[in-house]
Amino acid sequence: MAGSVTGSRRLCILFYVLAVVVVVVTAAHNATVDEEYWEKRAEEARSFNRAAYVSDPVATLNSFNADVLRATTRRSLAKYTGPCMATNPIDRCWRCRGDWATDRKRLAQCVRGFGHRTVGGAAGKIYVVTDASDDEMIMPRKGTLRYGVIQDRPMWIVFARDMIIQLRQELIVNHNKTIDGRGAQVHITGAQITLQGVQHVIIHNVHIHHSAQHGGGMIRDSKHHYGLRTRSDGDGISIMSSSNIWIDHVSMSNCSDGLIDAVNGSTAITISNGHFTKHDHVMLFGASNGDAQDAVMQVTVAFNHFGKGLVQRMPRCRFGFFHVVNNDYTHWLMYAIGGNMNPTIISQGNRFIAPNDVNAKEVTKREYTPYDEYKEWVWKSQGDVMMNGAFFNESGGQNERNYDQLDFIPAKHGKYVGQLTQFAGALNCRVGMPC
Ligand SMILES: *[C@@H]1O[C@H](CO)[C@@H](O)[C@H](O)[C@H]1NC(C)=O
Ligand SMILES: *[C@@H]1O[C@H](CO)[C@@H](O)[C@H](O)[C@H]1NC(C)=O
Ligand SMILES: *[C@@H]1O[C@H](CO)[C@@H](O)[C@H](O)[C@H]1NC(C)=O
Ligand SMILES: *[C@@H]1O[C@H](CO)[C@@H](O)[C@H](O)[C@H]1NC(C)=O
Ligand SMILES: *[C@@H]1O[C@H](CO)[C@@H](O)[C@H](O)[C@H]1NC(C)=O
Repeated sequence: MAGSVTGSRRLCILFYVLAVVVVVVTAAHNATVDEEYWEKRAEEARSFNRAAYVSDPVATLNSFNADVLRATTRRSLAKYTGPCMATNPIDRCWRCRGDWATDRKRLAQCVRGFGHRTVGGAAGKIYVVTDASDDEMIMPRKGTLRYGVIQDRPMWIVFARDMIIQLRQELIVNHNKTIDGRGAQVHITGAQITLQGVQHVIIHNVHIHHSAQHGGGMIRDSKHHYGLRTRSDGDGISIMSSSNIWIDHVSMSNCSDGLIDAVNGSTAITISNGHFTKHDHVMLFGASNGDAQDAVMQVTVAFNHFGKGLVQRMPRCRFGFFHVVNNDYTHWLMYAIGGNMNPTIISQGNRFIAPNDVNAKEVTKREYTPYDEYKEWVWKSQGDVMMNGAFFNESGGQNERNYDQLDFIPAKHGKYVGQLTQFAGALNCRVGMPC
């Protein structure tokens, strides 16, 4: 008898072990399948990214500056008297129109800079988020933000009312989407927004903060696919192998990794009218010295306010071409703009107000590179306003005709930055009124 009890116990254990093996093998299989899936997505994305890359970035820079000069008259920069005032060309394209709520897709025509072709979900239907919950990672409920962003068709996503969306895992956004928070106060918090291997995403007028790391698990990324995700870093917005991305009028703070990171050959990105506060690593463009595909990276950072509680990386760049223009830097603890691996950084018409710390007056920082090497890097400052002892240590350009100062159209001067950025961050737009 004892023998048979032991026997059935052995059988139980055997079954148990078998079950564990099956689960582990399936999970490993799923993880493998998933890696292949994301590699395939990245490969497909690479051709879009290459197509979005422009061979003459100075032309894009010049047309950006020319647009700002055209759009900013003495009157447009006068003292704010309400009800609506749009001080830069992006805002002037939509903000003071009373019909923005019935003509939301007009926004897609307003982007300037390297992300200027971004259409987001303009070809799609309006989808209204009515449900702030985020409980289902595999079969998200209709009405939730997650259900909207995973759709395969283009989609213009709006919000029925003010809401706080506490993400349970990273939110994986599919291509051709607009997240349009106008008309409501929308807070997206708890986990990062991931753009991976996608094109044409607009994120507009939302608050993004307190994103934390998550362990991963099964998460849906599109209508036809979900799979095992590994840990997410807790960025605010993480952009991987993606192009034609526009992030406008966001208020972002206090996430656990970067506020906005762009890696793996992402390009054609504009980050504008943002308000950034309370954070250490603000923006990272290119995360690794070994990822040479970041040479295609082209990013415009414009009309943003880098505010209280920021430390460094506004942005920190590798390899690509970065136009940092008409931003207001009122706070940093270590430095504002930095990088390595020979990025081209054209800083124009910004205002840099250095902290009181005598060791943190330099706007720029070259990471881990001796002078002999970085003296060739093209880092230029033009029309920037330097306050409280701030200084920008320029380099390069001596032998590079392309980047000779004479070849640039100057930006609107940094002395106008207070006006150009005075409405940075998420706006409080009321339906039926100019915003
Ligand atoms: C593997 O993926 C399938 C769907 O593709 C899912 O049903 C199954 O639960 C997954 N297995 C594990 C162990 O995660
Ligand atoms: C996304 O938008 C672009 C630009 O309009 C378009 O070329 C592309 O076909 C769209 N993608 C999908 C899958 O709808
Ligand atoms: C960020 O938020 C955490 C809580 O999630 C808090 O402990 C921390 O002090 C905040 N950091 C800053 C810089 O505000
Ligand atoms: C994407 O970039 C990260 C950070 O640089 C790197 O660790 C990873 O290997 C890259 N992935 C691909 C598919 O290139
Ligand atoms: C600026 O950079 C040069 C090299 O390009 C270096 O010699 C100099 O010390 C730097 N100036 C300051 C004040 O850091």
